[in-house]
Order: sequence, then structure tokens, then C-alpha cells
Amino acid sequence: MKILVVGSGGREHALCLALRRSPRCTALLCAPGNAGIAEVADCRPVGAEDVEGLVALARAERPDLVVVGPEAPLVAGLVDRLEAERIRAFGPTAAAARLEGSKGFMKDLCAREGIPTAAYGRFSDTRAAREFVRAKGAPIVVKADGLAAGKGVVVAQSEAEAEDAIERFMAERSLGTAGESLVIEEFLAGEEASFFAICDGDDCLALGAAQDHKRAFDGDAGPNTGGMGAYSPAPLVTPAIEAKVMERIVRPTLRGMARDGHPFRGILFAGLMIEAGEPRLLEFNVRFGDPECQVLMARLESDLVELLLAACDGRLAGAQVRWRGESALAVVMATRGYPGSYTKGSRIEGIVEAEKLPGVRVLHAGTARDGAGRLTAQGGRVLGITAVGPTLAEARARAYQGVARIRWPGGFCRSDIGLRGLARERPPGQTP
Ligand code: AMP
Ligand code: GLY
Repeated sequence: MKILVVGSGGREHALCLALRRSPRCTALLCAPGNAGIAEVADCRPVGAEDVEGLVALARAERPDLVVVGPEAPLVAGLVDRLEAERIRAFGPTAAAARLEGSKGFMKDLCAREGIPTAAYGRFSDTRAAREFVRAKGAPIVVKADGLAAGKGVVVAQSEAEAEDAIERFMAERSLGTAGESLVIEEFLAGEEASFFAICDGDDCLALGAAQDHKRAFDGDAGPNTGGMGAYSPAPLVTPAIEAKVMERIVRPTLRGMARDGHPFRGILFAGLMIEAGEPRLLEFNVRFGDPECQVLMARLESDLVELLLAACDGRLAGAQVRWRGESALAVVMATRGYPGSYTKGSRIEGIVEAEKLPGVRVLHAGTARDGAGRLTAQGGRVLGITAVGPTLAEARARAYQGVARIRWPGGFCRSDIGLRGLARERPPGQTP
């Protein structure tokens, strides 16, 4: 099979490596990819958000399967366009991708299906939004309805902070059309986890949980990022909690989406808040997380191609997924300054040495080669030093040994990835 992967991050590097492991994959293309992906796939210079360009590429190459990594092309309808060309694509249609593309859509579905999530209101004018905030009081959470690359959520500690967010999102349009309407919701306390299920429209299979580290610096300080590290399994998500997530959140969502005429096919990523053993839904994403995908793929033993085909073709009922009885942990290395402004082009060395360590793999995100073939940093999040080990503690130790071998003065990482999980570690090999 010829497979085309869309995206350029560590998530897509991890997907490419997992697809390559399958005997069914005979040719692998990636658009646009990065310097690491170029070692395992044939990269094509078409941006992940360039839907027209991607459709043209797929028309020319006729891949047997397209795997879409990021949310933007899904929400923009890439899968619908490929299906119209009779090209098989893994990921939701635009109508189903509204679970991530519109927070109001997602909350209304939860309300109809009785899915546990924060109480909320939807607003399209600032006055009603302000009145809601005054009636409910702080803390309160203000969310732009549309896609905002992680910048659309404000957890407000005071009414003034919430009103300021309403003003910026709605009146000043600081996020463009994404902030035209808002969801304002109750603040939930607890610990967060990322939960994944693969779905074929009717049936689904749990892929287990991971924990991400969203803040830039140690101790969960500093600004929000796309994710500075992850580990899986997540000891926080016990088999009992996983069962609740499937029964109360994932399956009702699939039923509701199918009944409403837009069945969900693809990866359903539930952002959870867990308190006293009870999971509640913070948000849905309609794709793998980054860097969560890196740790899930490191643990996956099943053939990823078979799994994605089963989802595309509606054959997940009765399917199974096998995992290595190991833990995985990824430490993200980012360019100094990220998630604020930073300079591009700093040299990176030491990847070959890091990958000599047992169980260590360096996944690329924002990398490119210069004219002389040297590796340089071209983005915010640049590398994901990923390791597997018999325990979370061992995976963590290996990943940080890998970090120590990377020579990149222009980069930084957190030193506390996985510490929360270590405190709860239970034997690996159980359902993630
Ligand atoms: P979201 O994009 O909806 O996941 O929101 C981004 C982050 O905001 C989450 O990872 C949480 O840390 C926080 N957050 C979102 N909604 C809530 C809520 N209702 N209560 C507390 N924190 C929240
Ligand atoms: N790491 C969180 C995300 O991919 O949205």
C-alpha cells in the first residue's frame, strides 16, 4: 500500500515510523514532513493546511490510504474532499470534526447525551456573556468557540479577568472568527489526562491514556504550550476510570453523532478532568495528541495500518489492539523563547548518539537541514526524546539520558516530565 501522511510534527514522525513497521506499507509519503520524517518517508512540500494542494497531491499520487495528523485540515474538510475523489482517508469528515472545531457544538452534544462535563452557556453577544459571568462568579472558564491553536481558553480567577477575555475574543476579535461566539463554563478541579479511542462510526476501541505537560516550565509554571512532554500508560487512569470514560463519554458521543447523521470515524481524543475517580470531559480533539501520539506509538505492538484500515472500513467491532508491556515517556525539546518569539536556525547535534541508548528514539518536529546537510531548528517544539522501559521510572531515566546527549545550546526542556505519574506508578502490562 502507498500511504500519505499529512502533517509535520512529532506526532506525524511517530505515525510514519509506526506505519513503516507494517508489512502492508510499501511506499510512504508525507506532506510536508520534516528532516526526521524525510529519513523514513518521501516528503512533499505541501502545507498541512493547504487543502487544495493536498487534494491535488493525492489525485496525482493515488495513495491507498491518507492519514491526517492535525485538526485544521480535518475541520476544513480534507477527508470529505478525498472521499469525493474516491481516496480512502483516515480521520473525521468536516461535520464530525466539529467536535473539536466548535466548542458549542461539542457542549450541546454532551448536553443531549448526558455526558459528564462542565455546566455551560453559549453566547454570541458580549452583554449576555458578561451577565452570565456576573451571575455565576469566578473562577470561571471562557472559551472561544472555534479553533485557536491553544490560545482560545482562559481559566479566569476573577470576574474582571473573564470579562476581559470576553472583550478580547468577541469585541476585539483577537482570535478572528474563532471568537465570534463563546462557551462560558463552570471551573472543574482535578487532574487532567488525555484519553484516546479509535472509532469507525459505530464501534470503537480504547487506545488508553497518556498525560501531557502543557506549561512551558518545571512545576507547571509559565505559559501554555502545545505540550512539553508526555507519558503512557497514565497511572492516574485506572481500568475502572477507563471503563467509565468509554461508557459515559466515548460511546454516547459515537451514538449521538451517528444518530445526528455525522458518524465519527477517526481518533477521538477526550481531554479529561479526573477528580475522586470520576472523569469529566473538558474538550474533544479529533486526532492524536502531540506529544501523546509519540508515547502511544512507542507502545503499540499491533499493526497500525490494519487498525486504521479497520476504522476506515467500519470493521472495528471485535478488533483488538496489542501493546508492549512497557511504559513510554517523551521529553520535548523546544527553541529558547517558545511559546513566545524565538530565532530559527540554531544547530542541533547528538541525535545519533542519543539513539544508541536502549529504547530511545528521537522524534523530529520543527527541524530542517541547511544547505550543507546540517540539522537546524526551525520551529518552537523541535525534538521529542522518546524512550520505552519496563517501568515508567526506567522510561523516564532513559529519555533524560537521551536528552543529555543532544548538543543544542539554543534549546530547552522541562526536567520534571513524568514525576506526577511516578508517584502513582502501578505495574505496566495492565490495560493502559
Ligand atoms: P481545552 O482546550 O478546552 O482543553 O482547555 C485548555 C485547558 O484549559 C485545559 O487543558 C485545562 O487545563 C483548562 N480548562 C478547560 N476547561 C476547564 C474547566 N472547565 N475547568 C478547569 N480547567 C479547564
Ligand atoms: N498535547 C495536546 C494536544 O495535542 O492537543
